[in-house]
Amino acid sequence: MTDLKKITILGATGSIGLSTLDVVARHSDKFQVFALTAHSSVDKLAALCLQFQPVYAVVSDSASASVLADKLAGTDTRVLHGVESLEYVASHDLVDVVMAAIVGAAGLLPNLAAANAGKRVLLANKESLVMSGQVFMEAVDKHDATLLPIDSEHNAIFQCLPDGRFQPTQGVERILLTASGGPFREFTASQLKTVSPEQAVAHPNWSMGQKISVDSASLMNKGLELIEACWLFHCSADQVQVVVHPESVVHSMVSYIDGSVIAQMGNPDMRTPIAYGMGWPNRLESGVKPLDFFQVAQLNFEEPDLERFRCLKLAQDSFKTGGTAPAILNAANELAVAAFLSNEIAFMDIPRVVEGTLCAIENQSTDSLDAVLEADLLAREESGKQIIKIGNV
Ligand SMILES: NC(=O)c1ccc[n+]([C@@H]2O[C@H](COP(=O)([O-])OP(=O)(O)OC[C@H]3O[C@@H](n4cnc5c(N)ncnc54)[C@H](OP(=O)(O)O)[C@@H]3O)[C@@H](O)[C@H]2O)c1
Repeated sequence: MTDLKKITILGATGSIGLSTLDVVARHSDKFQVFALTAHSSVDKLAALCLQFQPVYAVVSDSASASVLADKLAGTDTRVLHGVESLEYVASHDLVDVVMAAIVGAAGLLPNLAAANAGKRVLLANKESLVMSGQVFMEAVDKHDATLLPIDSEHNAIFQCLPDGRFQPTQGVERILLTASGGPFREFTASQLKTVSPEQAVAHPNWSMGQKISVDSASLMNKGLELIEACWLFHCSADQVQVVVHPESVVHSMVSYIDGSVIAQMGNPDMRTPIAYGMGWPNRLESGVKPLDFFQVAQLNFEEPDLERFRCLKLAQDSFKTGGTAPAILNAANELAVAAFLSNEIAFMDIPRVVEGTLCAIENQSTDSLDAVLEADLLAREESGKQIIKIGNV
């Protein structure tokens, strides 16, 4: 029994959280759930707690916590709430593995707590690394945490790189970061002006949460992933080339100086990278069917269009600018996506809000967590103003 690895799943009620629990359930001889967290989906979280019997369940506020506690009365699960509780279950001495699957900037503090406690961190929440790459990677190094990428592209790159690092001395030339192109890949600029939130969240290949689905449609997701790749693998933005690949079968590739290109492929199902992260350096059965090449039949590759999908360019430029620019970009994008989803602004207003916010806020260095949090706050205030301005036009 003592060999059981204890796992905390931050964002357990989301798309990644549920896929993680699916893999956990397949390997109950290896993993035991220590804590499950959600924002406010109390019914969903209660059902998961009854099934997986964690020691702790965490929600964001006290009202949700009291409803959850009623639902879990008579069980051994203790209900907590708030950011400090998220940090507590992410860094608890008994925890071995933390799945970082909260969406957006809300994941930063608990993810950092896990890194500071030297845990195995399975990083799905790319936003925390985009915001605070330097601070986060320093925490990982200083506390000897094991950071394993769960984003399918980064997980693929990790599998294709020597020792999971971009090492020119080992002949690595370039990372080829694949992108499905999202539901609007073939839309004209004028068609993009009138797309609805329902169209944007209907991703052709992946089943994901709403925010990342909109990010995929705008290609902001690829921009965030480019920044994530640079931090994870220690390379520059110019060493990462985005390649649109509509089938989402090649999850990313690494090109070497001798002309070799190593790709990682599979069906588009997040249980593959999740199982890889949970089992690393061993492999675990994930429930994902083997790839049927005869059914796939054809693989296509295209260059991204940075005119129609300006978010990708804004993200690339923000990383090159450095400092707080990626944190500003991330916060403005979060607010713009939420405003788009609630029909306050149009899809093509997302890059306008992000660019307007980046222009309005002075860039600072990001050598401390406080600087990152301050930039995040300023960007939220500024983008809120931009959204009201654009929404009133
Ligand atoms: N889905 C994918 O296939 C995929 C692939 C690669 C990377 N990722 C990344 O993984 C992360 C999660 O994505 P997802 O698609 O699983 O998102 P999702 O389905 O929207 O789930 C988000 C989770 O975070 C919780 N949450 C939301 N806001 C929170 C807050 N303020 N404080 C605490 N918890 C909060 C949600 O709880 P409630 O249910 O209570 O709202 C839910 O459990 C994102 O960073 C995304 O970019 C996702």
